[in-house]
Amino acid sequence: MINIQSFNNIAVITMNSPPVNALGLELRTSLLKALQQSYESDAVDAVIIDSSLPLFCAGADIEELRTGDIWQTPDLHTLIDAVDNAPKLVIAAINGIAMGGGLELTMACDYRIARQAAKLGLPEIKLGLFPGAGGTQRLPRLAGLQVATDMILSGNPITAAKAESVGLVDRVVSDDVNFRQAAVAYCEELLNNKVQRRHCSDIQVDPDEVGHDFFIKIRVEIANNTVGQIAPEHCLTLIESTTLLPFAEGLEQEKKDFIEILKTPQARAMTHLFFAERESQKIPGVERETATREINSVALIGAGTMGTGITIACLDAGLPVTLIETTTEALDRGLGNISKHYDRSVEKARINEEQAESLKAAVTGTLDFAGLADTDLVIEAVFEELEIKQMVFEQLDKHCKPGAILASNTSTLDLDVIAAITSRPEDVIGLHFFSPANIMRLLEIVRGQATAPEVLKTALQFGKRIRKLPVVVGVCFGFVGNRMFEPYFREGSRLLLEGASPEQVDRVLTEFGMAMGIVSVADLAGIDVSYRIRESRRQQISQDPSYQAIQDKLFELGRYGQKSGRGSYFYEGREKTSDPEVVKLCEALASGLNIKRRDISDQEILERCLYPLINEGIQILDEGIAYRPGDCDLIWVNGYGFPAWRGGPLHYADEIGLKSVLAGMSKYAQQLGDYGKLWFKPAKLLETLVRDGIKLSDYVTSR
Ligand code: NAI
Repeated sequence: MINIQSFNNIAVITMNSPPVNALGLELRTSLLKALQQSYESDAVDAVIIDSSLPLFCAGADIEELRTGDIWQTPDLHTLIDAVDNAPKLVIAAINGIAMGGGLELTMACDYRIARQAAKLGLPEIKLGLFPGAGGTQRLPRLAGLQVATDMILSGNPITAAKAESVGLVDRVVSDDVNFRQAAVAYCEELLNNKVQRRHCSDIQVDPDEVGHDFFIKIRVEIANNTVGQIAPEHCLTLIESTTLLPFAEGLEQEKKDFIEILKTPQARAMTHLFFAERESQKIPGVERETATREINSVALIGAGTMGTGITIACLDAGLPVTLIETTTEALDRGLGNISKHYDRSVEKARINEEQAESLKAAVTGTLDFAGLADTDLVIEAVFEELEIKQMVFEQLDKHCKPGAILASNTSTLDLDVIAAITSRPEDVIGLHFFSPANIMRLLEIVRGQATAPEVLKTALQFGKRIRKLPVVVGVCFGFVGNRMFEPYFREGSRLLLEGASPEQVDRVLTEFGMAMGIVSVADLAGIDVSYRIRESRRQQISQDPSYQAIQDKLFELGRYGQKSGRGSYFYEGREKTSDPEVVKLCEALASGLNIKRRDISDQEILERCLYPLINEGIQILDEGIAYRPGDCDLIWVNGYGFPAWRGGPLHYADEIGLKSVLAGMSKYAQQLGDYGKLWFKPAKLLETLVRDGIKLSDYVTSR
């Protein structure tokens, strides 16, 4: 866990606690002991703290947030105080990533030397927290208010070079040199120069360095951009306190606030998502020993919206892509869009021209399926029609080499039926991307009945390689995300018939924290797109004549949403304004359907949109379509704009109590007559969990 080595009068304490030197109780204890030993030894004049792992330290052990061991003695404050109050010079040698508590530890050292490749950050805000071991007080003193505020509020790390330029790091050395030797030499140099110990408490933060309205401006930005979240404002107040309070008082305040924020639902929600991400990669039947296949080339069938987006995601990850279309025209359009995308990236200085050219050169277009003979992974993204997809898969079966993985990006069709058309259903899998596919992080990996574990494992690796968050789901209409979306969308539209306005529905949902209200989402996704999906399942929805009646009407009127300038709103570009005609359409439809219009409370809108969504998620768990509640949460947070600080719909359900969800479902089943009876049936599992007093977080699937 810890090694101590002496280089003349310098003791080097090396952290060696794989995988990431998380500062859990054991490492804290060993570090403190090693420090004390070095302080007591007459032979030691200075101490270097470094790491034997590729990174320096990833920070606190997040697991301890759950267990409460974070406060076990020695806690991080005690360890950091021991560095700050050292009787000898202490130097941090930052060889790689230093995050959170890891960076906080280095900031209490007298000097910091870093390798060029090192990255330094305080990512606590991503867990709904703020740095709680001195970070908010030390970083502004060392790096200045502007940089500290940027780093703490974004959670994003900075490079060693940047850290050096702002004074957070004292020396940066090239990645080529022996870093240990460089650190020892630097320490010798400091000793020879008889440098003094340095304390952050001696540094005064000068508020004038950022201008008098700095905090006012950032407060406005926070209020606009992080509605509903409590951590950003807390962070800023603590940073601001460096201009108002002495160091010791600021530290005290930070610690007090940190204990409080840890107990908040928002911190619980975001740490839940952190753990859910880890858990989501554990898949029944996929073991450590399960083999994987090599993916060195990808082909996309269909160069439409999704095909081009997925191509860009693959190219960005360094994978060459073959793009297949039916006509030269469609192919050229697709290739042209990819080319334009990279031109825009050059304009925005995200990449240089040379990089853009080499990315463009890595995609090859063809009309001939024979071009797939050597491809490792083929992703089909043609029109959403079963016959067309089956035709494509017949071709793939004919042309692809044995062992190639054949994937479909279908969003609604039965993957097992598509797989069955091939002679190798074990090689078929669903890769359900979200639009825009090069940006959205979510990737639903659809596990077919026959999908081989090694195909699944390879798909998970591929997902991570192209920087997605892959979540494995089973086959059903809409998989997990869209299936949960369906009742949410249904209620959003039905409420318009009952008397709510599009603005009211959208406002309630955005106030709850959704990135966008459901009515605006429908306009953005295309009213024609959702209409076509309904067309394929009219029979299943025929019991309810009001089902998406307003959306069907808008489709009939050619109002396809944002793309046609009119949907439930008017659009000029992305700017939308209300359209009173939509209310008139709703009134007429309601009258024809015998729906009595009334004032609808915000509370009812929220409950009616969210409870059926949660109920569907629970039903999905019961059917084994999702492995864990956390998987549904990840899907909704990363693919559907559900607020991360609420932890996803199922975590939120636990927070408000499953009993309330069940009671709400029953209330609307009664209150809404036949409509209520039809759609507000509680999932069996919801009833069972409430009966047995079990939370979703404790639910373990029996499958
Ligand atoms: P699109 O209409 O933009 O593109 C489809 C492309 O496939 C067209 O360029 C067409 O020429 C081409 N194509 C049709 N038949 C072909 C064949 N036999 N061989 C080669 N190319 C062929 O459609 P979009 O939106 O890209 O959707 C594609 C698939 O992705 C669908 O299955 C859709 O359900 C799914 N999807 C779409 C999402 C979206 O937001 N648009 C999100 C997630 C999945």
